[in-house]
Amino acid sequence: MDRIDPWEVKEIKDYPRLMKEFGIENFSQFSNRLKDAPLEIKRNLVMGHKDFNKVFECISKKKEFAILTGLMPSGTFHFGHMSVINQVIYYQNLGAKIYLLAADLEAQLTRNITQKEAKKISVEEYLLNYIALGLKKKHLEFYFQTIGPKKSQEYNNLSKLASAKTTFNEIKTIYGNITPQKLISALTQAADILYPQLEGIRSTLTPVGFDQHNHCSFTRDIASRMKFSLPAFTFHKLIPGLQGPNTKMSSSKPESYIDFSDNEKTVEHKIKKYAFSGGQPTIKEHKEKGGNPDVDISFIWLKYLFEHNDKKLNEIEQNYRSGSLSTGELKEILIEKINKFLKQHNKEREKARKLLPKILKE
Ligand code: TRP
Repeated sequence: MDRIDPWEVKEIKDYPRLMKEFGIENFSQFSNRLKDAPLEIKRNLVMGHKDFNKVFECISKKKEFAILTGLMPSGTFHFGHMSVINQVIYYQNLGAKIYLLAADLEAQLTRNITQKEAKKISVEEYLLNYIALGLKKKHLEFYFQTIGPKKSQEYNNLSKLASAKTTFNEIKTIYGNITPQKLISALTQAADILYPQLEGIRSTLTPVGFDQHNHCSFTRDIASRMKFSLPAFTFHKLIPGLQGPNTKMSSSKPESYIDFSDNEKTVEHKIKKYAFSGGQPTIKEHKEKGGNPDVDISFIWLKYLFEHNDKKLNEIEQNYRSGSLSTGELKEILIEKINKFLKQHNKEREKARKLLPKILKE
């Protein structure tokens, strides 16, 4: 099986095999037990976990726990980035303390982005949209990797001291042949993930895409050797890009995603022109044979991003399968949903601007 590379994300074809190989447990037993969960959880985009049972216990017994997540400021904020933040906001509303960092150091080291640019993208693209999506100031600690969190000295030392708890052999086994910059990024990420424990919180969860799996193994190994508790993780599939179910939304390819600043016309144009269809080539054939929602990007996006009503989603699925709903009609449903979402979101973003300085000041 191909190695997962957190710096060069490729689509993953065989999730069950990957989960088996890395001992990732099935998340499905928790999906229905988490009340009012976001679509990512409810519709099983979140497929795997490590030690989520510990977090679930904290939720059930109202014990303290923290969420730690990092954003990579490498391009515009698009819908592929929403899976993580929706989960974070959900857990924040359940009472979790939130640690959010901007990986401006990693962006500089591995993506050739200047520090100034990385900071600007972190704030203007990510943080602003996160707040507009519902992230609150309460129980939130935000920091830049280059500056560090509240206990910045301990954080900086941790990222260095962690180096004594691994070997080149282990690094090679987990990551393959990586550059020194990537190694520094990995050690920094381990310190990020363990940081809440330096503030005394024992139970932490980091929700990530499967592409980040290597960092999870690495951090858990280091944690066990430094007498930290093992941080928990959940793993979600990445929402595919417009070109098809096995493609990804890529910042360098605007036709693969919808951006949070795309206007109505652009949304319509991109969906009509690029959204991969599971329908038949002609309307006649489509009516006879029906379409395949499982590979249809408009349907997949409705399922994981926009259609919250189970009954409606089911209807769309049935009608598409039977052929009574055409590709054109399905696309119209999606276009309307996206534009409605963005219209509301733009208003929220203007409100969010006011909160931004307060969050950055702390
Ligand atoms: N490597 C992550 C990415 O590419 C960013 C990141 C840095 C991160 N530190 C983290 C993610 C800690 C989760 C937890 O997106």
